[in-house]
Amino acid sequence: MNFSYQNQTAIHFGQGQIAKLAKSIDKQHKVLLAYGGGSIKSNGVYQQVLTALKDHAIVEFSGIEPNPSYETTMKAVELVKEENVDFILAVGGGSVVDGCKFIAAAAKFDGEPWDILAKNAPVNAAIPLGVVLTLPATGSESNSFAVVSKLSTKDKFAFGSPYVHPLFAVLDPDVMKSLPDRQLTNGIVDAFVHIMEQYLTYSVNAKVQDRFAEGLLLTLIEEGPKVFSANDDEVRANVMWSATMALNGLIGAGVPQDWSTHGIGHEITALYGLDHAQTLAIILPRMMSEMRKEKQDKLVQYAARIWGITEGDIDKKIDQAIEKTESFFHAVGMKTRFADYNLNEEVVDALVAQLERHNQTAMGERQAVTLERSKRIIRASL
Ligand code: NZQ
Ligand code: ZN
Repeated sequence: MNFSYQNQTAIHFGQGQIAKLAKSIDKQHKVLLAYGGGSIKSNGVYQQVLTALKDHAIVEFSGIEPNPSYETTMKAVELVKEENVDFILAVGGGSVVDGCKFIAAAAKFDGEPWDILAKNAPVNAAIPLGVVLTLPATGSESNSFAVVSKLSTKDKFAFGSPYVHPLFAVLDPDVMKSLPDRQLTNGIVDAFVHIMEQYLTYSVNAKVQDRFAEGLLLTLIEEGPKVFSANDDEVRANVMWSATMALNGLIGAGVPQDWSTHGIGHEITALYGLDHAQTLAIILPRMMSEMRKEKQDKLVQYAARIWGITEGDIDKKIDQAIEKTESFFHAVGMKTRFADYNLNEEVVDALVAQLERHNQTAMGERQAVTLERSKRIIRASL
């Protein structure tokens, strides 16, 4: 398929690269230093950032929560306007980065900023932003997307705009040393599912994209389980770079994309507060099974090239590939059923109603994930 591809994010990868901030942000700027609940203060990242920015004018905003909220980010928008901030530095995981993207766009938006998320109102400007990533997972550090929730209405919506694409991202794998296992698990699974959403569709014979995607999947399968026990710089580096490459536009250029596992996943987080990646691990195996006809060729390719499954009839190969996928999630410490979170039958109708309310009635690369099929997938995932 035709495509235009550009990724403007300058990547500063490796140990000690936070120091690059000093030259990455022009000293003319007044910088909003935005972060989350304080992990950066206990792991030394905050101090490294302050040292690098000692000659810059800085205003701080903290408290951007996991699954960043409209309510919190709008407080930052007020601060940005009051203080005439003209550059935003996000220091944190995907939630801080996404929150900052929304802040950047909302501060320049003429009208009610919630419309950017709820009504796809066009973003025509944003405050420029850069990132110090502390959790490899979302790819937000070098893509144009952000996901923001409104707590009062239980809505979790995404928007995208080239104006919020970060200008640079510092990826120092050392920041991963302080990550709790739960967040390492989340990161590996989220990155894995991002690749699957762009790979597991129908073939357009895009060999470069397919082989890049397969290389990333294999890297996560090989290195992911090691990240918990091995205190290994190379393991951390490989996982971190895989997560960025999984969703920076490269493997998705010129190929059909799915995103229906994410569509259902966002509703699970909105209603029940599960971590983003936890929702994906519940849904993906059943999505693969439900869509086995539509995705047949790619599922067979995935089975063979990722898991070495070449024997048996098509359905058997697909079943085995799904089992292997779920076992991989378990191997990195991720649960794969609603019941693991004490959620049962009642979620089925609640989630379907939520999908309907958000017009998520024809998802996926062929718009084949109807409400009825989503319902089957959710029920099969209990
Ligand atoms: O808030 P702090 O104190 O920093 O703690 C965070 C948070 O509690 C902690 N953490 C982050 N780095 C740490 C650390 N703790 C110790 N050491 C470190 N180095 O981890 C917790 C979770 O952080 P969060 O940013 O929420 O995680 P993640 O990066 O998984 O981001 C999830 C959000 O990104 C969205 C998700 O929907 C969710 O809202 N996504 C964004 C995407 C995008 N922009 O392209 C795509 C994804 O599909 C996803 O939807
Ligand atoms: Zn995701």
